[in-house]
Amino acid sequence: MWNIGNVEIKNKVVLAPMAGVSNPAYMKICEEMKVGYAVTELISAEAIVRSNKKTLAMLHGIESLSIPIGVQLFGSNPATLKEAAIYIEEHIHPAVIDMNMGCPVPKVAMRAEAGSALLKNPEKIEQIVKEIVENVHVPVTVKIRSGWDHEHINAVEVAKRIEKAGASAICIHPRTRAQGYSGKADWNIIKEVKASVKIPVIGNGDIRNCYDAKKMLEETGCDAIMIGRASLGNPWIIKECVEYLEKNKIPEEISIEEKFAMMEKHLDYLMALKSEKTALLEIRSHIAWYLKGVPYGSELKIELFKTKTIVELKKIIKEFKERIGV
Ligand SMILES: Cc1cc2nc3c(=O)[nH]c(=O)nc-3n(C[C@H](O)[C@H](O)[C@H](O)COP(=O)(O)O)c2cc1C
Repeated sequence: MWNIGNVEIKNKVVLAPMAGVSNPAYMKICEEMKVGYAVTELISAEAIVRSNKKTLAMLHGIESLSIPIGVQLFGSNPATLKEAAIYIEEHIHPAVIDMNMGCPVPKVAMRAEAGSALLKNPEKIEQIVKEIVENVHVPVTVKIRSGWDHEHINAVEVAKRIEKAGASAICIHPRTRAQGYSGKADWNIIKEVKASVKIPVIGNGDIRNCYDAKKMLEETGCDAIMIGRASLGNPWIIKECVEYLEKNKIPEEISIEEKFAMMEKHLDYLMALKSEKTALLEIRSHIAWYLKGVPYGSELKIELFKTKTIVELKKIIKEFKERIGV
């Protein structure tokens, strides 16, 4: 067990915020996979302040989760971020408010001067965090990258400022904004950040299995590990990490039957929270991930991508299962 401020987290495995993925439906699946803590996909502070219905709908269903959830905000204007954080605390009641200071995508970092663009201005980061910490009651955390580019790696300086401003934890994905997702995450930077602050540090980047999870904890001394891409189509990795870290349990292979059952459950969870059109769009990406390694999976994927309704999609999955004897 470890803590983010006064919030108790029951294990060291955290689900990464992922745009288009880390919504309450996916979090519910990860909760069933025993994740200790999960952070939502990035949510625009501007849109919250404007009461944008589509943005608010992204958070429907959080209240039904029993694990601690962090709602991740992005933005650049301190006053807007403060207002959005207050709104989220009052209306959504998350355990934690997380700030995105690492997103590299041009829409966020260039156009909105938010996400990783803030890494160029550590004073502003400190000002934003302080403002939010002073105005909400829940713990505030920040997710950062190692720096803007190779010449400007400043995660340690930024982490110290974040701690000084009163944040309760830091998550670090040790790639620069310029790297995007290329190259390797430099776990040494996680170690340096951990050594430079007293608040908990969540390490993130390139964990592909439970062995990597243990390695990151041992090599960097971080308090918890965060998993993103490796969970796509493979939420079982969460449980495997929890059980390996706690009981040294070696993971078993996931059967095709289990993959289909998970896919269908995932669809049900999405349908309970979203419109048919959105559920259909979202499940398609997940299906492509779940089908990796399934015989004739790419054929099924092509058929499923043509479907226009959930009924049609379910029928095609049923027929495919019958064909391959699942
Ligand atoms: C599809 C996708 C969407 C992402 N969206 C967000 C986001 O909304 N907020 C954020 O802080 N990071 C986001 N990330 C970055 C991840 O949280 C994580 O830092 C990164 O994927 C590295 O971890 P991994 O190697 O375990 O995937 C996203 C990553 C992916 C692949």
